[in-house]
Amino acid sequence: MIEIRAPKNQQEWDKYYQLRWEVLRKPWNQPIGSEKDTSEDTSIHFMALNEQNEILGVCRLQKNSETEGQIRFMAVSKNAQGKGIGKLLIKAAEKKAIELGINTIILQARENAVPFYISCKYEIVEKTFVLFDTIQHYLMTKKL
Ligand SMILES: CC(C)(COP(=O)(O)OP(=O)(O)OC[C@H]1O[C@@H](n2cnc3c(N)ncnc32)[C@H](O)[C@@H]1OP(=O)(O)O)[C@@H](O)C(=O)NCCC(=O)NCCS
Repeated sequence: MIEIRAPKNQQEWDKYYQLRWEVLRKPWNQPIGSEKDTSEDTSIHFMALNEQNEILGVCRLQKNSETEGQIRFMAVSKNAQGKGIGKLLIKAAEKKAIELGINTIILQARENAVPFYISCKYEIVEKTFVLFDTIQHYLMTKKL
């Protein structure tokens, strides 16, 4: 059974950011700290926990306006990928977004993750930026 909720103590926050860094930053030799931005305090955080309380995945929802939300920092640990955890995180973020009155989600998808977001019913809007000189991103969107 996978539980999706926000971190609730310092140890969980540390593990939450650690997973983000390991999946989204470490492979490109980015320093610890580079996994955070200036919107952490105002965003809504989600993590997936297994029955042993291990954190297997994370994502973040931020409110861009009254009606638009943005999902960022979506990461599932390598060993847990392909088992439906990413989809559970997206569903939890979308449910929360609807509760907040958000009707559109946007996100910047890494090229490797585009098929995942398509399977979650997101559509490509346009090709956008290249991160760390290698990772092409695509702006994607979904109406809730
Ligand atoms: C992309 C990522 C978040 C997806 O999470 P996940 O837990 O592995 O994905 P799920 O198991 O929930 O997959 C859900 C669906 O997406 C599909 N999917 C996932 N990755 C896919 C891929 N690379 N190619 C094709 N389909 C894919 C699955 O087949 C599944 O489809 P289904 O529901 O029809 O069976 C995860 O693999 C990851 O963290 N990757 C590395 C970091 C990254 O790129 N993050 C995204 C930054 S924008």
